[in-house]
Amino acid sequence: IISEIVTKENLESYVIGGFVRDIFLNRGSKDIDVVVIGSGIDLAQKVAAKAGNPKVSIFKNFGTAMLKFKDLEIEFVGARKESYNRDSRKPIVENGSLEDDQKRRDFTINALALSLHKDNFGELLDPFGGIDDLNSKIIKTPMDPMITFSDDPLRMMRAIRFATQLNFKISDVTFNAIKENKERIHIISKERIIEELNKIVMSAKPSIGFKLLEECGLLKIIFPEFQRLKGRETRNGISHKDNFYHTLEVLDQLVPYSDNLWLRWSALLHDIAKPNTKKFVKGIGWTFHAHNFVGEKMVPRIFKNMKLPLNEKMKFVQKMVLLHMRPIVLAQEEVTDSAVRRLLFDAGDDIDELMKLCEADITSKNEEKVKRFLD
Ligand code: CTP
Repeated sequence: IISEIVTKENLESYVIGGFVRDIFLNRGSKDIDVVVIGSGIDLAQKVAAKAGNPKVSIFKNFGTAMLKFKDLEIEFVGARKESYNRDSRKPIVENGSLEDDQKRRDFTINALALSLHKDNFGELLDPFGGIDDLNSKIIKTPMDPMITFSDDPLRMMRAIRFATQLNFKISDVTFNAIKENKERIHIISKERIIEELNKIVMSAKPSIGFKLLEECGLLKIIFPEFQRLKGRETRNGISHKDNFYHTLEVLDQLVPYSDNLWLRWSALLHDIAKPNTKKFVKGIGWTFHAHNFVGEKMVPRIFKNMKLPLNEKMKFVQKMVLLHMRPIVLAQEEVTDSAVRRLLFDAGDDIDELMKLCEADITSKNEEKVKRFLD
């Protein structure tokens, strides 16, 4: 339908962005972005009239219109050129050519366009080498990354999120620009940041993203409690383990067992209080007594700071931090013993209380409850 209309009206129009990228990656996508040299709102209305009048949502301020058709969400926008103020993600918008529109996008792999006009239907327009970057698994920006990230600092999180989801490398120039612009993440709302972070947490190998976040300095800004887990201290020749890498191992190991976001957050937070409870005891070595009890108390504060929901999900994470990942134990029969032993070992001074909690939680009634929650 869109192709018919743009051909009849002789408009230049393209499918652009994530949908095109996902075609080349063989990933399905239900969000389609259509760009037109002209008015996106006009085109959306003409398409809707021909498609049986589905509801068109118009965002006049942005010059965009969204149309839901079957299970697809199609967004129409006029091609544009953007420039930004330093303190805002809201661009100053002018009409532009297709290339202007591609250039203002975040990454070369997200700047691919396919023509919809019947004269050159399906022709790929790729002025920034997006296909080469898809093939070489590279995330890089169409223009100077210092400008791309300064314009919209959320893109720094998006770069790391795509690198994690797709297992791509961020080009050195682009990664250095993230390091340089990291402080600008402060102009982004916590809600947008957590949305990207959760996509990293839900990916097939979350450790990739957290290592990148750490390396570029963003982790320290957005999740300082997690940054503090990094490093090993040595005293009298005894070192403790690096709890940053340990936590990431636990999180990666959880992936095949659960795609529950809150269980993954439990894995992320299960050792979170260790820097606070760490002690070196002569004759014994490093101890982290009752870190899980302190960690449980830290959960609401972390959730609040990161704008995660302060509801029963948080309480679940709190309990899992306290009980040290009990659902992993449920899922992975063969590690039951060592996990229980580890629980008891970590409990230290509070062993009696932990025993009670463990006993309570091990009953099949609770197992059912946990499983129901995870479903
Ligand atoms: N885009 C951008 N800068 C952003 C967000 C989006 O340049 N901060 C552009 C990119 O071209 C992107 C397109 O808008 O491909 C659509 O964005 P979005 O729907 O958020 O992401 P997708 O790339 O479609 O990826 P996903 O669906 O995985 O979020």
